[in-house]
Amino acid sequence: MSEELRFDGRVAIVTGAGGGVGRAHAELLAARGARVVVNDLGGGRDGTAAGPPGDRPASASTVTAAITAAGGEAIANTADVADRVGAATIVEQALDTWGRVDVIVNNAGITGKGALDDPDTFERVIATHLYGTVNVLRAAMPHLLAQDYGRVVNTSSSSMWGADGATDYASAKGAIFAFTRVLAMQHRATNVKLNAIMPVAHTRMTAAIPVPAIVDWLETWFPPEKVAAFAVLLCHEGAPCTGETFVAGGGRAAHVVFETTRGHFDSEPTPEAFRDHFGEVMAHRDAGAPADGFLDLARWADVLPERGPF
Ligand code: NAI
Repeated sequence: MSEELRFDGRVAIVTGAGGGVGRAHAELLAARGARVVVNDLGGGRDGTAAGPPGDRPASASTVTAAITAAGGEAIANTADVADRVGAATIVEQALDTWGRVDVIVNNAGITGKGALDDPDTFERVIATHLYGTVNVLRAAMPHLLAQDYGRVVNTSSSSMWGADGATDYASAKGAIFAFTRVLAMQHRATNVKLNAIMPVAHTRMTAAIPVPAIVDWLETWFPPEKVAAFAVLLCHEGAPCTGETFVAGGGRAAHVVFETTRGHFDSEPTPEAFRDHFGEVMAHRDAGAPADGFLDLARWADVLPERGPF
């Protein structure tokens, strides 16, 4: 067996770690020697204080107690990540208690409802997922960059490819995919690595899926610990990449790639020309994953006459 990945001397923050996938991240990091700030608002899975009927309560202090009982080190934080000031207190608590912060796992989340005519819910979902991630990193990045060390794992979701009735949730998770990728590019020259995961796990969030067969399947094969097993690799000093996103769950990890096709080019484009060549626009022959928007154009430079800067 190869050498165990350890986090001795490292300080980690896991948001939304009072239950579900976040709890599994926090417990595995602590078991591997990290000191962990366990953040959780403790509210319901829909972002309300009490939660819907039957919801299992999440609690930062319960998880902290479990970590401590198992011989690890952890402290609880109950801030709301959607609140800029609250999010900053999570980082401050790590610094005040242990004098450093090395690992950030932005995991806190709530279910979406997606309705355009329910703007309060829509904004709350975006605020929790997207701004929650942005807020914590706004506070943490200066410290990570100053010490030229940091490992960040953000939580996207495969719902961004389609999730019936969850436009708010899927939009937020798509934004986290892009945010992670671009922030990682910006800091590629540093030793701060940022990646994202799209988990699949049986938690109180997915227990609410209204299809019992799916919930049973998740419960049998997708414990949150199997997501944490991959996320913790990305949290480690030896994290093998930055700016990437992975599906993780059920014992599988897989790289997420987007592709653009070679497409159709017309020097005098008209709607009719694109209509007539729509098959080429869509043809996946020669498709490849773009590294970034401009590099994607450069990759197809042979089909573009004005090569511009490329
Ligand atoms: P969960 O509901 O068990 O965990 C989410 C935790 O975040 C809860 O403990 C909740 O109290 C906390 N939280 C919510 N709003 C917060 C806020 N404003 N500030 C601090 N904490 C807050 O659900 P689960 O499944 O463990 O979700 C973890 C993450 O994984 C979420 O971002 C979720 O969107 C994402 N995800 C989960 C999937 C799954 O299959 N379980 C699939 C795709 C994404």
